[in-house]
Amino acid sequence: MIPTMLHSIDDKGQIEDVSDVWLAKLGYTWDEVIGRPSTNFLSEESAQYAHEIVLPAFFVAGVCHVEYEMRRKDGTLMPVRLHGVAVRNETGAFLRSIAVIEDLSEQRALERKVWDAQKLDTLGLMAGNLAHDFNNLLASVVGNAERAQRYAGHLPAAASAIDDILVAASRAADLCRELLAYSGRGQFQIENIDLNSLVVEMVKVLEVNVGNRATVVLDFARPAPYIEVDATQVRQILMNLVINAAEAMGSHTGTITIRTSVRDLDHTTIAASARPEVRPGRYACLEVSDDGSGMQPAVIASIFDPFFTTKETGRGLGLAAVQGIIRGHHGTLVVESQPGRVTTFTVFLPLAEAREVVVKRATSISDGRGTVLVVDDNDLLRRTLATQLEDAGYRVLVAGSGTEAIEIARASSINAFLIDVTMPGVSGPELAVRLHDLSPDARFVLMSGYNNVDMATTVPTRFVQKPFTEEELLRALDQK
Ligand SMILES: Nc1ncnc2c1ncn2[C@@H]1O[C@H](COP(=O)(O)OP(=O)(O)OP(=O)(O)O)[C@@H](O)[C@H]1O
Ligand SMILES: [Mg+2]
Repeated sequence: MIPTMLHSIDDKGQIEDVSDVWLAKLGYTWDEVIGRPSTNFLSEESAQYAHEIVLPAFFVAGVCHVEYEMRRKDGTLMPVRLHGVAVRNETGAFLRSIAVIEDLSEQRALERKVWDAQKLDTLGLMAGNLAHDFNNLLASVVGNAERAQRYAGHLPAAASAIDDILVAASRAADLCRELLAYSGRGQFQIENIDLNSLVVEMVKVLEVNVGNRATVVLDFARPAPYIEVDATQVRQILMNLVINAAEAMGSHTGTITIRTSVRDLDHTTIAASARPEVRPGRYACLEVSDDGSGMQPAVIASIFDPFFTTKETGRGLGLAAVQGIIRGHHGTLVVESQPGRVTTFTVFLPLAEAREVVVKRATSISDGRGTVLVVDDNDLLRRTLATQLEDAGYRVLVAGSGTEAIEIARASSINAFLIDVTMPGVSGPELAVRLHDLSPDARFVLMSGYNNVDMATTVPTRFVQKPFTEEELLRALDQK
């Protein structure tokens, strides 16, 4: 058997011969094909393109390389690339054309996934950058409001206005966190946790959300798989998937199964998953399945798009956020669903070794006395932090860049460094390492709008998440 799609077409444009693979791929029998006009097996658009453009050129050139859509017997379309040659007799008269046809379905599906991933990446990047800049502004709003509040003690109207500012700023900070979760850059607290316990702790909350629409069944891997993740975000994944499952029940009651397992992720599964760029290997799986409505293929193709929903308008962020979180954790997700069949969402997260979290200790500066060097490229924030720390009793020096910070550290004795993680030039963690050589006994506090996973340094550091309150900042600087 010839392992490719081949056909030959006679001088009247009728099919003379086809290979078995041609029949198998398109779902026809030999009798349904032979003697029929070849354009019957193209989509309307491709047939028109063939008549008007491809064939006139083909009769002159004698060869063609063209992309068409062929029509399968079940009516669905198959993208193909066709390479044809003309066979002529000794007088040059056209006898037939012979063509080799490539099936592009898989390639197209993959291209679409990569395209979707890029689109989401761009949106995510935008959301992430926006949240980052916004966090800097918020840090300054919170810092100044807290400072003003200390002087507003005898002015009740001012004090209550400032309270309102602080409440609004903390809501804005929540919004930033959501944006960061969507962008996949919001890893706040990476911990080593066991997936089974995470599910168990959530069961009560999940049951409240599911109500009497479905029974929740648990099925756990033994021993429990460990993952290194931000637990809050993984809880958000589970919550979004389970709520979707409950909402898919419609007026029936059904079963929602939450399963954990350890699996090898191979290339075939990766290609069918939401993030084809993920690495093969061993993964911890969190699976949520339901026997609700199921989904049409066209719905599955769009479920990760922000604001795609079959529910009320304005919704449709659930799975977009899930995908963002999974991207931030270097995992992927596989969806299996058909109308009226069991729907399964399987989340793959990199498997980790179980381990105790070791907290490194750093030296302390005694109660608000000592010198702090604030390193941040953002002017406003640098000024706000400097005033706050001076108010708290520190001597404060400021630097707008890594180079400046190194110069200052060479010239003065510094007890603590407060360093922004993302600055042009040298990054915060790199700078901490260099400054550690100059002031080995100093304390290092890194601050960032994102909580970068790759922030590990060889220097003991503390971390504060922007926007932070004065209390959080002082605690990070003072803690023994
Ligand atoms: N388990 C499921 N069964 C059937 N359809 C589902 C399931 N999960 C998701 N979907 C489909 O995917 C769409 C998008 O889901 P997503 O969670 O992103 O948004 P939503 O649930 O519509 O709104 P939101 O989560 O923002 O409240 C849903 O509207 C629904 O059509
Ligand atoms: Mg949802």
